[in-house]
Amino acid sequence: MTKITVKVDGTSYTDEVEPRTLLVHYLREQLGKTGTVIGCDTSNCGACTVHLDGRSVKSCNVLAVQADRREVTTIEGLAGPGGELTPLQEAFRDCHALQCGYCTPGMIMQATDLLAENPQPTEDEVRHGMEGNLCRCTGYHNIVKAILQVAGASSSASTSGGGQS
Ligand code: FES
Ligand code: FES
Repeated sequence: MTKITVKVDGTSYTDEVEPRTLLVHYLREQLGKTGTVIGCDTSNCGACTVHLDGRSVKSCNVLAVQADRREVTTIEGLAGPGGELTPLQEAFRDCHALQCGYCTPGMIMQATDLLAENPQPTEDEVRHGMEGNLCRCTGYHNIVKAILQVAGASSSASTSGGGQS
């Protein structure tokens, strides 16, 4: 067993893990962070996506020991302290960007990273950036729409209030 210390959703945890333990299993089974789900276990579906030091990773493709002394954010750590949804979470709700919801935590974590890197992506850039996240229900249209809605809101925020031109 190996001792690791990981900050997850703002709380620091020190635990013993087997060197072979996957990060997704550590999150779900040792920390009870079941908002992060497993869709395939073979790094294909993206359902298990979390942020590791602010960048999205498929947590079934990372060992828990690789997160030692690093920071993980899961879907459970995105909302504000009073449970306020992020604009992207609200857009998913408003655009009906989910049906069964199984892919949604991973979709939101991946899209959050995508928008942090590129706040005003084109539709092609969104589709390319989300291609590692699979959805069996929606046909992707409303997921892309939700992400572009947030991008559009940040675009109009950045162009409004800037005085006259
Ligand atoms: S469970 Fe990790 S990519 Fe599918
Ligand atoms: S909403 Fe069911 S898998 Fe995406």
